[in-house]
Amino acid sequence: MMYRNRFTDEGRERIMLQAKNLSKSFHDGKYAKTILKDIHLHIPKGSWVTIMGPSGAGKTTLLNCLAGIIRPETGTVTINDVELLNLNEKQLCDFRRKHIGFIFQDFKLLPHYSVIDNVMLPLIYDEDNKKLKARAERLLSEVGIDEHLFRRLPAGLSGGEKQRVAIARSLIAGPDLLLCDEPTGNLDIESRNQMTDLLRKVKQRGQTIIVVTHDQEVANLGDVTYQLREGTLMEVG
Ligand SMILES: Nc1ncnc2c1ncn2[C@@H]1O[C@H](COP(=O)(O)OP(=O)(O)OP(=O)(O)O)[C@@H](O)[C@H]1O
Ligand SMILES: [Mg+2]
Repeated sequence: MMYRNRFTDEGRERIMLQAKNLSKSFHDGKYAKTILKDIHLHIPKGSWVTIMGPSGAGKTTLLNCLAGIIRPETGTVTINDVELLNLNEKQLCDFRRKHIGFIFQDFKLLPHYSVIDNVMLPLIYDEDNKKLKARAERLLSEVGIDEHLFRRLPAGLSGGEKQRVAIARSLIAGPDLLLCDEPTGNLDIESRNQMTDLLRKVKQRGQTIIVVTHDQEVANLGDVTYQLREGTLMEVG
């Protein structure tokens, strides 16, 4: 299959993420709605995978399952040979902090922390403060946040600025896997192009990216695109 040949590493594919038999439904009173039905996904290291699909299809739910943020009813998720659902909460939290960057659709910036503190937070207890701060400043500049905004609280930022800060935060630990939930949704075309350049750099460094997007031009930059529809993933094109 084409997909297999695209990411070979000395003839052997190195799998970064493997999800098997993932199912998830939400229960609303008497009714249960199945969002993910027996999903299988295997993602080679260093690839860019795009997930598209209609609003409400379950894209965010899928990303949350892949990151171990929500537990699926059935199935397994393995990242770098670690089976996420076997970890306890603390181990899972540590694993996520070190290996997974997540750009949330609604940013999830902490409202009482400044821009720079939000970016530093994932590693604040692990690393020398000065070095961490320098790296956070560099990342913020890279995503186009001006220095005069570093001390501002998230409430004083525009939607696009919040999104850039969320992107900087997701990259602070140099994650092996970057999960992006509509990372260009609030950006104008020029900012979107800056963002996709940044994602390309991330990929060039060998990091693996999963991007959820409604934007076909963003999808075109990836190695493979899946459509999530009625709980099932289908490879497109
Ligand atoms: N915690 C929850 N409790 C109940 N239902 C939920 C919950 N989270 C999501 N859902 C439902 O699951 C479905 C999928 O939601 P999800 O946010 O994953 O969709 P999406 O594909 O990301 O949509 P969008 O493109 O609008 O972001 C929706 O019908 C939503 O209402
Ligand atoms: Mg969503």
